[in-house]
Amino acid sequence: MTYESRSEATAAPAATENPAALSRRAYGRVAVLLDPVAEKAAGATEPEAPAQSTIPIIEALDALGYEPEVLPLQADVPHEWIERLRSGEFRVAFNLCESVRGSPAAEHLAAAAVELLDLPMTGACSATLLHCLNKDRVAAVLRAHGFAVPDWKLVRRDDPVPTDWDRFPAIVKPAAQDGSNGIHANSVARSPSELADAVERLREKWGSLVIQQFVEGREINLAIVGNQLLPPAEIDFSDLPDDVPPIVSFTAKWVSGSPEDLGTRPICPAPLPAEQAEELQRLAARVWTLMEGSGYGRVDVRLSADGTPYIIDVNPNADLSRDAGLARQAWVAGWSYEELIGKIVEEALARHDGSSSASTGWFILPAVRGVGGST
Ligand SMILES: Nc1ncnc2c1ncn2[C@@H]1O[C@H](COP(=O)(O)OP(=O)(O)O)[C@@H](O)[C@H]1O
Ligand SMILES: [Mg+2]
Repeated sequence: MTYESRSEATAAPAATENPAALSRRAYGRVAVLLDPVAEKAAGATEPEAPAQSTIPIIEALDALGYEPEVLPLQADVPHEWIERLRSGEFRVAFNLCESVRGSPAAEHLAAAAVELLDLPMTGACSATLLHCLNKDRVAAVLRAHGFAVPDWKLVRRDDPVPTDWDRFPAIVKPAAQDGSNGIHANSVARSPSELADAVERLREKWGSLVIQQFVEGREINLAIVGNQLLPPAEIDFSDLPDDVPPIVSFTAKWVSGSPEDLGTRPICPAPLPAEQAEELQRLAARVWTLMEGSGYGRVDVRLSADGTPYIIDVNPNADLSRDAGLARQAWVAGWSYEELIGKIVEEALARHDGSSSASTGWFILPAVRGVGGST
C-alpha cells in the first residue's frame, strides 16, 4: 500500500481550479512548515524544496485561494526560522514537520514554536505530538482509561533481553518512531529465540523498543478531521505471500511494487456492519479526546478473534499525502483533496479564534463512494 501504488481509478480527483479564488488570494498567507531533512529523505532534490508528496498540499492551498510559503525548519539557526515565521504576516501555519533534523522524537518542537508565537496551526498541539510518539506511554494511558491495548513491555537500549515474555506471537517495534520505521517481517517473533534476535537487531538502530502481543485479526484505520469521523478503511492482507506476516511493514509502506506493498491493499469503506463501523468510529473519537487530539489524525486498531478492537497506533498529524490513507478516507466521504486541505486550515483558524466545532459533538460521515474491495 505504498503511496505510488494507488491506481488512477482510485486516486482522488485532480485539483479543480477555482478562478475566483485564484485571482483573489483572499484567504491570506500560509506558512508551510517542513523538515528539510525529512523532505530530502522523501526525495526532494533541492535543499529548500518540498518532496514530491508535499507538493499537492501546497498546490491545494494555492487552488483554494491561500498564499502558501514554504518555511523549511532551519534547525541550525532556529531563531532565524522563528523570526521568518513571526514577521511573515501569516494567517496560519500548516504544520508538516513530522520530525526535526529527521528525528521524529523532536517533532513536537516545531509545533511548540508556533504555539509560542500564538499563530493558528493545523493539526495537533505539541503536547499531543510528543505524547503519541511514545508507544509505551500511549499504551499505558490507554489501558489506565479502560481501552483494550495488546499486552506490551518496554525494553530500553541497555536492558537485558527479557526472558519472562511468554505471549507469542509478539511484535517488536521502536518505542518512539512512526511510518513503520523498524517494522519488518522479522519483527514478528513466534518464539523466545526469535524475540531475542529481533530485540538485539532492532535496538542497535532504534534504541528503546516495545515488545507487544501480536493481534492477528483485521486491521482498521479510523480517521478524524476536526469533529468529523471519516468512513473506516481496512487493510486487506489476503494477497501477501504466505511467509510474510500480515502487517503494514516498512517495505509495504515505502517500497512500491514490492510483494508487501501489493499484498496490503486498502479498502474503504471497510466492509463492516454499519453498527460495528460506527462503534469503531466512536471508539476512535474517545481515544482522540483522551489524547487531546486536534486537527486531524488516525487511530489504527486490530480486531481480535472475539471482535475486541485493540488500539495499535494513535497518529496525530497523520500522513496527508494525496495517496495516503487519510486522503483516501476523506475522498470516500465525498471530499476532494482540496476540500480536505481546506477543512484542515479552516479548523485550525476556528480553533484559534475559539469558534472550534469541537464543542458541537462528533459527526459520523457516511461513505458516498468506495476504493478497493472486490465489488
Ligand atoms: N500489536 C500488533 N499486532 C498486530 N499488528 C501490529 C501490532 N503492532 C503493529 N502492528 C502492525 O505493524 C504496523 C505498524 O505498526 P505501528 O505500531 O502502527 O507503527 P508506526 O507508528 O511506525 O506506524 C501496523 O499498521 C500493523 O500492521
Ligand atoms: Mg502506524
